[in-house]
Amino acid sequence: MAKIEINLDEIPEGKSVTFKWRGKPLFVRHRTDSEIETENAVDLASLRDPEKDLDRVVNPKYLVLIGVCTHLGCVPLADAGDYCPCHGSHYDGSGRIRKGPAPLNLEVPEYSFPQDGLLVVG
Ligand code: FES
Repeated sequence: MAKIEINLDEIPEGKSVTFKWRGKPLFVRHRTDSEIETENAVDLASLRDPEKDLDRVVNPKYLVLIGVCTHLGCVPLADAGDYCPCHGSHYDGSGRIRKGPAPLNLEVPEYSFPQDGLLVVG
């Protein structure tokens, strides 16, 4: 299956960029230190689909997600806190479902960082 190579220099800190991969939106966010701290501090007991932030990232600086809502498959708005406009699901800064009808966290694809500044998804 096709892989996609992404030059991480193109994604400034605090920004998300949407790519297309295997016919689906792929969200890559360069997280700030404060975003990383916030997601690490989340109480797992408060989550509908409990997963630690650190189990959802390879390098905490980068959040890599499939941009398909786990409710009925709409595309959440990557730069609006991963809010799904179809029925109002909200995902957090780790792509975890926090509010609304979606049952599960946004999917994390398989990916790696084969060299500094390069992300390979797939
Ligand atoms: Fe996203 Fe329904 S498809 S909330």
